[in-house]
Amino acid sequence: MEKRADTILVTGGAGFIGSNFILHWLANESANVVNLDKLTYAGNPANLLSASSDRRYKFLQGDICDRDLIAELLITHRPRAIVHFAAESHVDRSIHGPDDFIRTNVNGTFSLLEEAREYWAGLTGAEKDAFRFLHVSTDEVYGSLGPEDAAFTESTRYSPNSPYSASKAASDHLVRAYFHTYGLPVLTTNCSNNYGPFQFPEKLIPLVILHAIGGKPIPVYGDGQNVRDWLFVTDHCEAIRSVLTRGKGGETYNIGGRNEVKNLDVVNSICSALDELRPNDPVMPHAKLITFVTDRPGHDRRYAMNATKIESELGWKPRETFETGIRKTILWYLENDAWIQGVTTGAYRQWMATQYSL
Ligand code: NAD
Ligand code: TYD
Repeated sequence: MEKRADTILVTGGAGFIGSNFILHWLANESANVVNLDKLTYAGNPANLLSASSDRRYKFLQGDICDRDLIAELLITHRPRAIVHFAAESHVDRSIHGPDDFIRTNVNGTFSLLEEAREYWAGLTGAEKDAFRFLHVSTDEVYGSLGPEDAAFTESTRYSPNSPYSASKAASDHLVRAYFHTYGLPVLTTNCSNNYGPFQFPEKLIPLVILHAIGGKPIPVYGDGQNVRDWLFVTDHCEAIRSVLTRGKGGETYNIGGRNEVKNLDVVNSICSALDELRPNDPVMPHAKLITFVTDRPGHDRRYAMNATKIESELGWKPRETFETGIRKTILWYLENDAWIQGVTTGAYRQWMATQYSL
């Protein structure tokens, strides 16, 4: 890859949203992509097989906590933007072992900010003006809503409840501080729950699909009445692209699908779709597999995003409804057995045994 080519640096691009973002970017933009990913259990280069032959794409295995590596990478590739996805992302894992969440989400973001600041300070003229650091965050930093509460806005008070959301909140605050203190041109996006292709099957939607087709118990925490605001992953990727192109430095943007669904309704809708698509599965109807299990400690009851700002200021809107998005997602998992076999290996089975005694 040539120096000074138009390039963006993506961190965590081998994960669920990062890989969808890179594929979406290469299909819609001309700039090169350098993907820095540590390849933890959640990182999977197979997500990017279709990008591997694109000469605009380059993969580097490495840790965002490694400051020498980041410094070198910035000097070599001179990106015009950093899009920062790399994180530990699963709430249940953060309850079992928060250390990695603090290391990557807090210290890793700090390392990246420090090196970005140094790099940006050395830029001049148009290159300096154009540079952006886009930090990808979550609605979970705002805490939990009651049934009648208004959806989260960008000015809702931070109130994180899990080690995961607390670590993301800490990283959001660092990003904010780098704008106010040093003038680093940052953008922060806080998005609701994503679903779609390439999501690791420790998260609710892919886990339910795989358990339903495999005739395994479908674990629903507590009473199943917790509400999440679901967004199809490509809609999130488009929102990030809009913020990167048109967002105002120092601003935060909430992203959500206005698709509030109770967990039990999510599970039932997947089961009904599979009844139609897979009538010969081992257990029919699939909903017979629903099993209520002990609730997650500190389980947030409801998330809902008010996405008015990004809609009105940047003209973004989700394309998928929950009905269309979940259908696409189910079909993707049914058609990608090789990918599923690749990710449900030793480490995955170990996690399932720890979390569910399955
Ligand atoms: P993921 O767990 O699927 O992927 C995370 C990626 O980061 C993996 O490829 C992993 O290898 C990489 N990574 C982890 N630690 C690293 C390190 N120290 N250095 C370099 N790479 C490292 O996560 P995701 O669901 O794709 O989420 C991506 C981002 O979006 C996260 O910051 C998350 O907080 C945020 N987010 C996720 C959701 C969601 O519903 N999944 C919603 C809103 C925001
Ligand atoms: P998850 O996909 O882990 O996302 P998050 O915790 O970030 O919202 O979980 C989505 C919802 O589904 C959440 O309320 C917890 C619940 N859940 C279950 O009921 N059973 C499960 O096995 C999992 C993984 C999640």
